[in-house]
Amino acid sequence: MALLTYKDARPWARSIRDEVGDGAMPPWHADPKHGRFANDRSLSPADKETLTKWANGGAPEGDPQDLPPAPAFTDGWTIGAPDLVLSMPEPYTVPADGFVEYEYIEIPTNLKEDRWVQAFEVRPGNRAVVHHVIATARAPQPERRPSAFRMGAEMSVPPGQTGGPAETEGQQRPKGLSRYPRPRAIGASIGGFAPGTAAHVYAPGTALLLRAGSAIVLQMHYTTSGSQQIDQSRIGLKFAPAPPIEELRIVALANGKLRIPPGDPDYSLSAEMTTTAAVTLRQILPHTHLRGKSWEYAAVYPDGRREVILSVPKYDFNWQTSYVFAEPLKMPKGTKIIAVAHYDNSAANKANPDPRKEVLWGDQTWEEMMFTSFVYSIDGVTPGAVITAAPGGGSR
Ligand code: HEM
Repeated sequence: MALLTYKDARPWARSIRDEVGDGAMPPWHADPKHGRFANDRSLSPADKETLTKWANGGAPEGDPQDLPPAPAFTDGWTIGAPDLVLSMPEPYTVPADGFVEYEYIEIPTNLKEDRWVQAFEVRPGNRAVVHHVIATARAPQPERRPSAFRMGAEMSVPPGQTGGPAETEGQQRPKGLSRYPRPRAIGASIGGFAPGTAAHVYAPGTALLLRAGSAIVLQMHYTTSGSQQIDQSRIGLKFAPAPPIEELRIVALANGKLRIPPGDPDYSLSAEMTTTAAVTLRQILPHTHLRGKSWEYAAVYPDGRREVILSVPKYDFNWQTSYVFAEPLKMPKGTKIIAVAHYDNSAANKANPDPRKEVLWGDQTWEEMMFTSFVYSIDGVTPGAVITAAPGGGSR
């Protein structure tokens, strides 16, 4: 429904009061006690009170003279006109039922020179079946990029695109349709689309590197919907006019060893990583599936100080938010980041597809993940730098 005019909003007054009153709307899931975020959509207590009073007072129209101008919404790309639009080379047919493995669709960029990605957006071709898209950029020549994290020992899983093993021991997984299997190299992540998130606009002076001649690999997660559907998704990129001051990098933290017992109302799992250089942490995107219940991230600084940097007490799979720090966090070398996820595999979790199942890591929504994507920059490293000597290890 639209809430643009009085006429639009009036019939929803009671529902608005209830949704706003219990914090379900506007959707925002970070605990305000920890951290401040640039993309915080929540309302101030005063705004909440105004809406509640209005609804309880019979939702009057008020004086039309006082009406502020209607907000202008962008039609089309929310990042503005992209400098480059890349489309899946051909339409993909999603069958009516069954399930589809992640498909990996390659698009050449034909870029003649290196570019800096300032904004990124996925336009799903068919929202009924496009569940998520993760775009990576594979440079024509493999190269070692500086890295700034050492992963914790518990994470000794072969890191697949989504951080976990393709198949956990003891997991007998049926195979879904697969027309475009994962290529040997997919490159570094440049952005994605998931329920609740489609566009990424990075702060001025910060951008992601896209090498000349790169190929974009789109990891497509299609979900069947009961009728055959066609999709041809696109991505839009806006480039920074000049090299940034800070190069953005994306690192994934995951623990693929999850094994959630049937019916367990509060299974928890942690993962940690430690900085091997001074970094500036800019964004955190927590990701679990339908049994995900809450997330908490703490930083333990080299001087022993511990700080909760993000808490998502009521994680909601339908609202996958990348939490953008209003003031990016400075983390000296030797800072540990500890992520803890909780899961509810009981029948009390209304979103639970099957509380009788033991749940292991897997790509599909009825399986689980313990995955976080962080956007950061390494302090004092020239944007575009390549490692020529001593290794750092890890992903970019
Ligand atoms: C003050 C701001 C907002 C108000 C008053 C509001 C109000 C509401 C209400 C009353 C409903 C329930 C409709 C029903 O009963 O069927 C709803 C649902 C919904 N709203 Fe909002 N909303 C706000 C902000 C937002 C924003 C910013 C977004 C998107 C970013 C959003 C996306 C949705 C979606 C997707 C649903 C349906 C699914 C769900 O309930 O989660 N809303 N909203």
